[in-house]
Amino acid sequence: MSAPAHRVLLIVGGGIAAYKSLDLARRLRARGVEVRAILTKNGAEFVTPLSLSTLTGNPVGRDLFSLTEESEIGHIRLAREADCIVVAPATADFLARMAQGRADDLATACILAASRAPLVAPAMNPMMWLNEATRANVALLKSRGVGVIEPDAGDMACGEEGVGRLADLDEIESRVMAELRRSRRLSGFDALVTSGPTRERLDSVRYVSNGSSGLQGYEIAHALAGASARTRLVSGPVSLSPPAGVETTSVTTAQEMLDACLTPPVPRVAVCAAAVSDWRPRDFVAGKMEKSAGLSLEMEQTPDILARLSEGRAGRPELVVGFAVEDGIGAAGVRRAREKLTAKGCDWILLNDISAAGSDENEVVLVSGDGEEVWGRGSKRDVAARLVDRVGGYFGV
Ligand code: C5P
Repeated sequence: MSAPAHRVLLIVGGGIAAYKSLDLARRLRARGVEVRAILTKNGAEFVTPLSLSTLTGNPVGRDLFSLTEESEIGHIRLAREADCIVVAPATADFLARMAQGRADDLATACILAASRAPLVAPAMNPMMWLNEATRANVALLKSRGVGVIEPDAGDMACGEEGVGRLADLDEIESRVMAELRRSRRLSGFDALVTSGPTRERLDSVRYVSNGSSGLQGYEIAHALAGASARTRLVSGPVSLSPPAGVETTSVTTAQEMLDACLTPPVPRVAVCAAAVSDWRPRDFVAGKMEKSAGLSLEMEQTPDILARLSEGRAGRPELVVGFAVEDGIGAAGVRRAREKLTAKGCDWILLNDISAAGSDENEVVLVSGDGEEVWGRGSKRDVAARLVDRVGGYFGV
């Protein structure tokens, strides 16, 4: 049985470039993509619902409160069923409303309800594009993972010249197709991610732990799910919301994290991004330990989850990835990461600098049996996207 067609949700905003969205819909359909469209109120000033529904072969969504539309499609389903959401053209006003998280029409409500970040193809007057407010909105949207298909320079319909023309349709089409390929790349894969710190209790109120926001692991789980992997995230205590579409198990101790990781099924890919506490107090004291109990504590090692997951060949994930946080990612850091790779028996180590803790950015070197790959500095989201891309490459998908 062939895979179901990819689905695109095309949102047509109100600008003179809206007529080009008709051609975009036609091109995508010609590639076997199922296109559903939403026409904003202003978009309907430029193209008709009839042209859009004829070219998409589907009814056009227009009204958040239309009973028929809600019962037949529903804005949540419309958003979730799309493998890619693309706003073309995206006006300055639409970008501003997205940046604010508005949900007062069908288009913005779908974007807010989606688990994937959309692509936007802005088109507007050059002064509007250069306006500080628009710049700030675009920067904010990019930081949230929205893919911005930069507008082109040239003559504008309004008679002015500058940057603001809708990007070439070839470019928009290829960005949408790339997004569609990515969206199902790991379909059928089971993936496991550990993230956050663990806490090892000393008494009823005190614990030993590591500083870790958990952000990198959450971004990785989000990116794996975004590529359609069935993703389980085993997380220590963090203050992040579970990523959409990810089965998240909250744990406290290293032992609980290990137990959760060993729960079937064995994943095809496991990524251990957790900052597991290396030691735990040998004894747990119920209640509150007296200060007079002294300052020495007997500690023992916690189970090494990464090493356990890497054990053996059969019944083990096909690809096990660990992290090594080192004081510097130069030659000495690489050497230590390589020692860790051997000691733990995992397949890849992502070496990163200690400064990444508590930051939204990370600088990574991938260390594997094949050598080293320097990834450079990027947001934790970028690192996650790159890792998922490499995982796809490893499995040849
Ligand atoms: O030995 P070290 O803590 O530097 O190794 C880091 C890597 O090992 C990380 O991938 C971390 O998630 C994993 N780890 C683990 N269980 C432990 C200690 C570390 O999974 N008890």
